[in-house]
Amino acid sequence: MKNSSREFRIDGHKVKTLAQKYSTPIYCYSLKKIKTKLNNFKKNFKKINPLICFSVKSNSNKFLLKEIGKLGLGADVVSIGELVRALNSGIKPNQIVFSGVGKTVNEIDYAIRKKILLINAESKSEILEIEKIAKYQKKIVNIGIRLNPNIDAETLNQISTGKKENKFGVLEKTFINLVNYSKKSKNLNLRCLSVHIGSQILNVKPYQKMLNVLEKIIKKTNYHFEYIDLGGGMGIDYKNNNKELDLKKYSFLIKKFQIKNTSKIIFEPGRSIIGNSGFLISKIIYIKEGHKKDFIILDAAMNDFMRPALYKATHRIIPAQKKNNKTRKIYEFVGPICESTDKFLTTKNFQKLNEKDLIIICDVGAYGMSLSSNYNLRPKVMELLIKNSEVKIISKRQTLNDLI
Ligand code: LLP
Repeated sequence: MKNSSREFRIDGHKVKTLAQKYSTPIYCYSLKKIKTKLNNFKKNFKKINPLICFSVKSNSNKFLLKEIGKLGLGADVVSIGELVRALNSGIKPNQIVFSGVGKTVNEIDYAIRKKILLINAESKSEILEIEKIAKYQKKIVNIGIRLNPNIDAETLNQISTGKKENKFGVLEKTFINLVNYSKKSKNLNLRCLSVHIGSQILNVKPYQKMLNVLEKIIKKTNYHFEYIDLGGGMGIDYKNNNKELDLKKYSFLIKKFQIKNTSKIIFEPGRSIIGNSGFLISKIIYIKEGHKKDFIILDAAMNDFMRPALYKATHRIIPAQKKNNKTRKIYEFVGPICESTDKFLTTKNFQKLNEKDLIIICDVGAYGMSLSSNYNLRPKVMELLIKNSEVKIISKRQTLNDLI
């Protein structure tokens, strides 16, 4: 990624050349950037020596998962689809954890047969279901129980998961009852306490509170959990101002927690590994004068990238080619979809653009393609990966024939 040159490049490849060769819109990922992020993650948590299970929901591309598997990561999955995809990508079953509030009989049955590391159960009914299926299969199944610690993650409401009003996990009293129940079961092997309080968390304080709650509850259960699965949620820099979660501080807090609890730590990061590595390249179809601003109408839309429409998330937009022109414009970047929420960004200080120019929406590696849809019967876009300076197509552009 080079911002200094006038032509924006991703690992040496001019965005303009990629667009000419493959058309637009394109998701383009940098493997180099993924590796840098992962190495930094590992370095910060070195003293904890965690099992890192990549959260497949953040990006479920087959080839990316293969690369991530090769880098030694396990997987956090939330559906049979993600589980099959992780297994097909070469991720070992004993490095896969399965979360989610609504696992079906079919999903539980499959997960047990595949002997994955943990099924993290989220309710009493689910535990009874797992036990029933395990009994039928004559197996002892490794489970975790997800605790709802009733903690405000201080992030967007839509991506908060650890407050008592959220559907995730079970509250303290139920948690203790379920531990006692599982201890006595012949078909359940309770190995893990799991928790995940939310996503895009930028402050360590909520994590600190979470660890304090865990400490108290573990004491109350009087049970040794072989694993503590702390989930993901580590926030990244979307503004290019270096404000991201301080992983070192978080690591320090966990190390302190481990003095009393010798359990092995599992993490389920998604965004912090892959978020900053993805770029969405899009071409301007038209420019239209509006009230006090101009609309930049792109060939990418909310169906390709949902985060701004869904969460009012802000993603930087940059021109593929910097120009000398000093004129600054007020622009609203929008897509062609028939919804007013189909807009990416309003910005006051942008270089003058022309129709057919290329722009890049930044930091779309996580919850970008995985949240995309065929809304308005728009075909899904192509995904490219830059690996060792080579460009690889890692998923083809859907054609109209695929849809119609
Ligand atoms: N583990 C569990 C149980 C989760 O529910 C999630 C995310 C993760 C791990 C990974 O969290 P991460 O490290 O990526 O923050 N679509 C939203 C984010 C939804 C997150 C859902 N759960 C967005 O685009 O912001």
